[in-house]
Amino acid sequence: MSCRRGALIVLEGVDKAGKTTQCKKLVRALQQSGRPAEMMRFPDRTTQIGQLISSYLEKKNNLEDHTVHLLFSANRWELVPLMKKKLEQGITLVVDRYAFSGVAFTSAKPDFSLEWCKHPDVGLPKPDLVMFLQLNPSVAAERGEFGTERYETSTFQRTVQQRFEQLMKDPSVNWKVIDAARSIDIVHSDIKVLCENTINMSENLPIGELWK
Ligand SMILES: Nc1ncnc2c1ncn2[C@@H]1O[C@H](COP(=O)(O)OP(=O)(O)O)[C@@H](O)[C@H]1O
Ligand SMILES: [Mg+2]
Repeated sequence: MSCRRGALIVLEGVDKAGKTTQCKKLVRALQQSGRPAEMMRFPDRTTQIGQLISSYLEKKNNLEDHTVHLLFSANRWELVPLMKKKLEQGITLVVDRYAFSGVAFTSAKPDFSLEWCKHPDVGLPKPDLVMFLQLNPSVAAERGEFGTERYETSTFQRTVQQRFEQLMKDPSVNWKVIDAARSIDIVHSDIKVLCENTINMSENLPIGELWK
């Protein structure tokens, strides 16, 4: 049958948890085992909206907090037609951050509720699996200095971690917590098994709608 769709796999976690490292490794492993797979990342800085976000993160411009939240969401929505097309073609998408980061980061700012932050992303393609790379802030600190972009401070990241923990209580999302303090290869082999099972489970199911 040629109607098998690809799986939508998301990696989440605070800065330096190993998301980018693991996404790349996972895509390579899937491809080598003959499964079509591609990596995506959010924010996607290549679009016009993505460029606004990028210069905001680089602190080259300032944007009002609600506005920037909606831009991050719009940056996901603008990629939805492409994502659906690829999934329907049978390509598994491995995504470095998604709506959960969007909500965790904005709701870590004063006076933003989790509910308000979730609204613009309601109805996005729902990931078949969200792996949360769990890493203690002190271990993350040993992986090098923070960069100079906005949000790259340990106090902010601690609040982000708390928001992720709130989001993970939602049973409508298929969360898996991964101990990211282990070696790159061991984390990878856990991720790969979870991912392969998910690809097999979701290939005949319709793509869901997030938080709906
Ligand atoms: N399991 C691991 N153990 C030790 N160092 C790691 C591990 N995973 C990633 N790293 C290193 O930590 C840094 C951050 O990894 P990265 O994948 O960029 O994290 P993220 O995308 O979550 O911010 C990189 O220098 C990377 O090589
Ligand atoms: Mg990264």
